[in-house]
Amino acid sequence: MIADKMKGMVANSSAIRAMFEEGTRMAELYGAENVYDFSLGNPNVPAPASVKRAIIELLDEEDPVVLHGYTNSNSGYADVRQTVADSLNRRFGTSFEGKNIIMTVGAAGGLNVILKTLLNPGDEVITFAPYFGEYRSYVNNYDGVLVEVSPDTATFQPRLTEFEAKITPRTRAVIVNTPNNPTGVVYSEDTIKRLAAIMDAKQREYGTDIYLISDEPYRELVYDGVEVPYLTKYYDNTIVGYSYSKSLSLPGERIGYLVIPDEAADSETVLLAANVATRILGFVNAPTLQQKVVAKCIDEETDISFYDRNRETLYNGLKECGFTCIKPEGAFYLFVKSPVEDEKAFCAAAKKYHILMVPGSSFACPGYVRLAYCVAHETIVNSLPKFRELAKEYF
Ligand SMILES: Cc1ncc(COP(=O)(O)O)c(C=O)c1O
Repeated sequence: MIADKMKGMVANSSAIRAMFEEGTRMAELYGAENVYDFSLGNPNVPAPASVKRAIIELLDEEDPVVLHGYTNSNSGYADVRQTVADSLNRRFGTSFEGKNIIMTVGAAGGLNVILKTLLNPGDEVITFAPYFGEYRSYVNNYDGVLVEVSPDTATFQPRLTEFEAKITPRTRAVIVNTPNNPTGVVYSEDTIKRLAAIMDAKQREYGTDIYLISDEPYRELVYDGVEVPYLTKYYDNTIVGYSYSKSLSLPGERIGYLVIPDEAADSETVLLAANVATRILGFVNAPTLQQKVVAKCIDEETDISFYDRNRETLYNGLKECGFTCIKPEGAFYLFVKSPVEDEKAFCAAAKKYHILMVPGSSFACPGYVRLAYCVAHETIVNSLPKFRELAKEYF
């Protein structure tokens, strides 16, 4: 018999993964070219050539015992951490040292490490709908309580008045995700400044430490020159979680990092605890080979043009069909308003045309659907006549 807590988790098991499995099944049935699977954020762009070169060089040049061994610190290799810190300092004018970086098993691993580090049972973690549904499970892993701020569907920027009202003495952390999954919205500098001011005031009012966790696997995926503010510069108690899953198209390699700056409250203890959490959660260390790969590729830039072309084609195509959505400024998702209130019925109707999309309720925002456009360009082009047929059912 499985644990009671797992029973709920299994029952609510990710709709996105279920959709992905459905996509594979449909591809076998109808042929992959006849299925328009927009369900999963699995990049369709291959990792840059420099990643392959780095892997080959490392395999040729490094001692295999070291390369495939446990990392000598659970937080990651000192030289890799220093390389990451130097790169961030160059790009964002920060002043991190290698010790401020913890290498992680992707962003998901990093979030689990930091939540394990920070949460006591019953502690509250606030996030803004729509949000990556796994936050609920991750917070629940450590018996925390996820508190959500309702979505502002006009702009998908955070509702700050409601946020302020929801901060309590039990609020331990706030998770923000910009560029955002599922909306593609980037929080403006003005939004960040106001959010930081609210959190500063609440910390003073309650005499507590409230950590801001910036979950930013899509940092480099932005369009039209949009700036993504680096949050440690606006609020001292910021912890950054980063991943190479999307920027270098390495989701299966499970590599990312946390930044825990000196300015964060109890930074030394938090760093030490995050090291222990990495070990006791069973990660032990971030993959050794991949740590060295990302350090070698630290100056690699994401080629955004592939996603940008997809974004333009899908966004314009859907609008021409009569669908409504805001144009994403980052990430590779479109969040489209369902033409009927029950977006699950809309997803079911789309399936008749072999179009797979994820219901917004998976992101705590019913009435919308998410399309991941990290797919081959021809998938988008070929899907548009199907979307037109689908639209005829509604408009
Ligand atoms: C907002 C957000 N956070 C975290 C993750 C987890 O990413 P990773 O592959 O780095 O664990 C994802 C993956 O899609 C995501 O969209």
